Amino acid sequence: MAVLVTGGAGYIGSHTAVALHDAGHEVVIVDNFANSSPRAVDAVRALTGGALSFVEADLLDEAAVRGIFEQHEISEVVHFAAHKAVAESVQEPSRYYRNNLGSLLGVLEAMLEHGVDKLVHSSSCTVYGQPAVLPVAESAPVGAASPYGWTKLMCEQIITDVCAVRPLAAVMLRYFNPVGAHPSATLGEDPNDIPNNLVPLVMQVAGGRRERLAVFGDDYDTADGSGVRDYVHVVDLAEAHVAALEVLAAGHDGAAAVNVGTGSGSSVLEVIEAARRATGRPIPYEIVGRRPGDIAKTWAATDLAREFLGWQAKLDIDDMMRDHWRWHSQNPDGYGR
Ligand code: NAD
Ligand code: WQD
Repeated sequence: MAVLVTGGAGYIGSHTAVALHDAGHEVVIVDNFANSSPRAVDAVRALTGGALSFVEADLLDEAAVRGIFEQHEISEVVHFAAHKAVAESVQEPSRYYRNNLGSLLGVLEAMLEHGVDKLVHSSSCTVYGQPAVLPVAESAPVGAASPYGWTKLMCEQIITDVCAVRPLAAVMLRYFNPVGAHPSATLGEDPNDIPNNLVPLVMQVAGGRRERLAVFGDDYDTADGSGVRDYVHVVDLAEAHVAALEVLAAGHDGAAAVNVGTGSGSSVLEVIEAARRATGRPIPYEIVGRRPGDIAKTWAATDLAREFLGWQAKLDIDDMMRDHWRWHSQNPDGYGR
């Protein structure tokens, strides 16, 4: 029996495929390389001693999805596949809704047809917007400020509704800000074109590809005025999926949303400092205006992850910067697409 990892050539999926293999699972990856490279699959294969099935397919292709369930003995699914760029989703909402909702629906229907009743789903702290109370707990009000955010919220709703009436149990992991890379430096984040997120940009500055970082605002209501986020190492995050599958295997019923963060926040200026320590390089920056749509601060309440999943983050911001830098400095062009 195997775990189907959708979007397993992507940043978080590739690390999770390795963690699942290390925990003793058979893994089948499906990906259409919309935002990833075949070399990521090669890297996962190298780290798992070749023990990996890979299917190149678009999850919007219902026949192809059904074919995966017919050809492999799938016992559970970890669903990562989605488009994830917030600004792009504002420009191309229908593409985001089609891909993120359509891929989930196709996978869910194939699961139900084939009696596969365990799902771990990638959700996001974006569903909280700017929380009124910090740390933010899973019971906090949810909403969305972008089409991307809406797709995450709608996917949670779809899964919750299906779990209520069909034999399906799900853990929806609300990731905070994943950063870092596999310690081997053979797996990591490989953003297309110009990265959207802070840490890949910081690494490009450290590596000399970019002259300086633009810090989006120093007048937030935070200790140093820059935005605060809960950065979580992608290797820790991968382990949270292994833990979620264990909870499902133990018979958990229904749909549960669980935060995956460290429980503490780092400001943009603290991330820059940590990157200086990790890289030994200067990270020049300038303060510019706030980025539209940004929130000031968020970090996760981690009680549920600890109590329900038995999971907590082990790695800190220095580990994250060290591993992200090792990956970036050894692979400045990522997988070399
Ligand atoms: P990623 O883009 O690296 O990985 C997503 C993978 O899904 C890619 O390999 C892409 O090619 C694939 N994919 C997309 N649409 C597909 C389709 N229709 N058929 C087959 N494959 C398809 O992104 P990631 O950072 O690894 O994110 C994984 C998941 O986690 C996403 O659902 C994302 O919304 C969620 N998430 C990410 C973050 C983050 O900051 N990285 C934070 C919170 C939640
Ligand atoms: C982090 C901090 C920026 C770039 C995004 C998505 C969210 C979730 C995680 C998927 C903020 C600051 C950034 C730069 C900067 N993804 N920054 N200069 O905004 O927390 O969240 O990724 O679900 O949905 O919106 O992450 O890495 O873009 O920003 O000062 O050039 O870095 O203002 O304070 P964010 P980020």
